[in-house]
Amino acid sequence: MAGDRLSVGGRRNNIGEVCTPNAGADVARNRALWTMVNEQFTDEDAHRAWAADELTWGLFGVPERDLVVLGDVRGLDVVELGCGTAYLSAQLARRGARPVGLDLTPAQLATARRCQERFGLVFPLIEANAEHVPLASASFDLVVSEYGASVWCDPERWVAEAARLLRPGGRLVFLTNSVLATLCVPEEEGVAQDHLLRPQRGLHRVEWPGGGVEFHPSHGEWVRVLGANGFVVQALHELYAPADAATHRYYGIATAEWASRWPVEDLWAARLTAGVMAPGSAPSGR
Ligand SMILES: C[S@@+](CC[C@H](N)C(=O)[O-])C[C@H]1O[C@@H](n2cnc3c(N)ncnc32)[C@H](O)[C@@H]1O
Repeated sequence: MAGDRLSVGGRRNNIGEVCTPNAGADVARNRALWTMVNEQFTDEDAHRAWAADELTWGLFGVPERDLVVLGDVRGLDVVELGCGTAYLSAQLARRGARPVGLDLTPAQLATARRCQERFGLVFPLIEANAEHVPLASASFDLVVSEYGASVWCDPERWVAEAARLLRPGGRLVFLTNSVLATLCVPEEEGVAQDHLLRPQRGLHRVEWPGGGVEFHPSHGEWVRVLGANGFVVQALHELYAPADAATHRYYGIATAEWASRWPVEDLWAARLTAGVMAPGSAPSGR
């Protein structure tokens, strides 16, 4: 699959199924996709991403210093769900956090380990499904996901896991494709257009032919899932491409021109309500 036919998520199509008919098959399919993407792009790009001076968000590099969505992370226990090559965790480690990176795909974690050695920055990396995290409850201050679980996992499952992993008052910060961009990409080929190409009604689980399985809830659905798991939404940053941004050379969801006019990514921040146990967050003993 050529890079220009791949969103950060994968191929776009067949929106509308609202259930997860075969979660095991979805996981296998997504692992295979990310093994291929690692070979085509992320392994080669990881060194650049790890070496970056500045922490930025998304395909067009919106600086964290402009958003201040993470704030001061010094001394925080952080888990990244769907860490890929773990460059975000590396940036957090440089800022004094104690990250743990978790990912489904061995090839992605192998790249992350190689970068850890090269940059002399080592933190735990775990191969696991972010819908069933083998880590103890209430052991983190911050859960992050940058196009990881936030795209590839069922929100009902991974948000519940995020709530379980966080200490009361902890924060969840995640980045995903904007709802608008998802509505504007063609069914078969090409980048986001300047008009809607599919209904929002029924938008949830998305199967891309030749690609993976993604989840694209509406804003209202995110608010419902977060609230049901004990989170209070702090912010939804709708990210546009900065003025000097160039179209991404591999992930073909939208051009920089499109993303300068419409929000291409949604960056959510939520806090776990202090003292309230979220549904499913009872200590599991893991
Ligand atoms: C776009 S990458 C995001 C990671 C990171 N920000 C990066 O770009 O390297 C998506 C990652 O999600 C991982 N992933 C997909 N499904 C997952 C699951 N069920 N549990 C954990 N990770 C998953 C993939 O293996 C892939 O490494």
